[in-house]
Amino acid sequence: MNNIISWTAEDEAIIATNTDATECKRCAVELGYWKDDYIVYFAKHVDRKAPEINRGYYARVKAMEMFIHQFLERCGTKCQIINLGCGFDTLYWKLKDSTQAVGNFIELDFPSVVAKKSHIIKRNKQLLEKISNEDGEVMIRSGDLHSDGYHLLSCDLRCLSEVVRKLEAGGAGAAPTLLLAECVLVYLRPEAARALLEHLAGAFPRCVLLVYEQCNLGDKFGEVMMRNLSARGCALPGEPHCREPGAQAARLLAAGFETARAWDMDTVWRALPEEDRARVEALEMLDERELLQQLNLHYALSVATRGDLFADLDLNA
Ligand SMILES: C[S@@+](CC[C@H](N)C(=O)[O-])C[C@H]1O[C@@H](n2cnc3c(N)ncnc32)[C@H](O)[C@@H]1O
Repeated sequence: MNNIISWTAEDEAIIATNTDATECKRCAVELGYWKDDYIVYFAKHVDRKAPEINRGYYARVKAMEMFIHQFLERCGTKCQIINLGCGFDTLYWKLKDSTQAVGNFIELDFPSVVAKKSHIIKRNKQLLEKISNEDGEVMIRSGDLHSDGYHLLSCDLRCLSEVVRKLEAGGAGAAPTLLLAECVLVYLRPEAARALLEHLAGAFPRCVLLVYEQCNLGDKFGEVMMRNLSARGCALPGEPHCREPGAQAARLLAAGFETARAWDMDTVWRALPEEDRARVEALEMLDERELLQQLNLHYALSVATRGDLFADLDLNA
């Protein structure tokens, strides 16, 4: 495979999706959907988003959290987390504040995203103090940020040799591994995503992979979603894999994972604890419930595993 990837305007549009995700998360946090003391450093000013967007983000964050918790329950803190296309995700800091801080946390994204995230970390004591050693130091090497147990690395996920090299530089080892791919694989061409997934499944014999991204893109609503993204210069090269959730699970099994399950987010939403749904439904009025349902039907959460320890992970666990 050709490892030289040229930089395009489309990549800029993909990178901008991180700003979007961060602003939506900050808006929902401000409205009380969930707690995140760190998102404020990554998105300064945000306009209020529509209620269905806020609820959709709540379901996404809550569902990811539920499975992250199940993973950590099974392997404790002697594990590693690898966040693919991490954007400005704040999970590392949230775990640090809990009893679930992990042994090693590696984040990968395009160089410009990594540079911005590093800059924000270095400028904000509340972020920096959670990653630096006792002397308050972090090491910056070739644009990457390294510290004990946290590595923020620039990498193009379409280039497998770079991924392998960066994971090595981040100290990825044989410990149980949680792999996160939240709204990222869809930006990779199917062959690049397959190569990446096959590599990960082969490299980590005890792992859980969480994939959150679009699904059911073949119907009318899906077509409108794609047209809107395309109008912003953002194509979805991974769209052929964004069919029904069953196809998402089949793709992960084909890549070498031993178990794989996927649910659309409407199913996930309905599986959330009743009291959690009631709490967020009381936060703001949502006139058009069908809109939330349509949105939820066009995103899916997939969970793939390797190793006996994780075979029973489930939505209703
Ligand atoms: C929609 S954002 C999601 C960010 C984060 N995972 C979250 O859920 O908040 C997609 C992220 O994937 C990153 N990304 C997309 N394609 C990538 C690639 N080929 N290599 C590295 N990062 C990539 C983008 O730069 C962006 O930060």
